[in-house]
Amino acid sequence: MSSETPQLPVSQPITPSAQAQNEQAKEVNSTCVGPQSEMAGKASSCAGCPNQSSCASGEAKVDPALEAVKDRMSLVKHIILVLSGKGGVGKSTFSAQLAFALAQKGKQVGLLDVDICGPSIPRMLGLVGHEVHQSASGWSPVYVEDNLGVMSIGFMLPAQDDAIIWRGPRKNGLIKQFLTDVNWNELDYLIVDTPPGTSDEHISIVQYLKASHIDGAIVVTTPQEVSMADVRKELNFCRKTGIPVLGVVENMADIKIPLSSIGQAHSGIRFVDADGSDITEKTLQL
Ligand SMILES: Nc1ncnc2c1ncn2[C@@H]1O[C@H](COP(=O)(O)OP(=O)(O)OP(=O)(O)O)[C@@H](O)[C@H]1O
Ligand code: SF4
Ligand SMILES: [Mg+2]
Repeated sequence: MSSETPQLPVSQPITPSAQAQNEQAKEVNSTCVGPQSEMAGKASSCAGCPNQSSCASGEAKVDPALEAVKDRMSLVKHIILVLSGKGGVGKSTFSAQLAFALAQKGKQVGLLDVDICGPSIPRMLGLVGHEVHQSASGWSPVYVEDNLGVMSIGFMLPAQDDAIIWRGPRKNGLIKQFLTDVNWNELDYLIVDTPPGTSDEHISIVQYLKASHIDGAIVVTTPQEVSMADVRKELNFCRKTGIPVLGVVENMADIKIPLSSIGQAHSGIRFVDADGSDITEKTLQL
């Protein structure tokens, strides 16, 4: 695995905007109320933040990219975020299925993968190796069907296994480009697949899209309490950022493995101890 960042087909270097500086501030201040908030620069959590004066004066609220996002997104009728506080619960699978289902109904659909560090959409859709092309009107999505276009950083990596180790402002810059430079044309639905949690990608996508419109979020969980506990945090994130929750998907709810099949050759499930020794028989007797 390489730790080098990929060479993106960008026409201009990403310059740090006021927004990007804010993202930088958030990296050191997890209790940031957000530069768009009424309390920006005035909240107790703002004390010592390098952006305090620009937030308090309202200067930080204005990012020229917001207008560009608004322009591009004016051609998109509905924008739906797929979120979860928990990793591996099926956000990307659900996003892809939702995109296919809407496309099958004859809708014009875009699927945007903003999971910058773990983009799984290209692999899930069998699009590994496809590249994004740039034209005068912007980056062209990769089309899996005539009415289903896909955009992901996965298309821009020189090697599929390359690791992307980016800090907040750089992720913010790429998400901004995804929203301003991708030529989706007219869309009925833009489905946005996100990474787990409520991190840089979520804050960026919400800030930029709120200048335009977000119909709401679909929150994905699995039935286990460890997943639901994190998903509750995601619901709080939606509440705080004013995004309507359109629904909660309880994924993998029907996946059950009979205890009797554990240890059987066909089930492939075995218990091992810390040394790797097989303790399946012993465990099943407990
Ligand atoms: N309903 C399901 N039944 C069986 N397998 C599923 C189901 N949903 C998802 N999976 C599988 O679970 C794994 C994780 O799914 P997926 O990558 O969609 O999760 P994710 O929430 O997007 O993960 P990440 O947080 O890493 O982005 C994948 O191997 C996927 O094929
Ligand atoms: S001043 Fe406050 S609102 Fe502005 S970036 Fe800093 S912590 Fe966030
Ligand atoms: Mg995913």
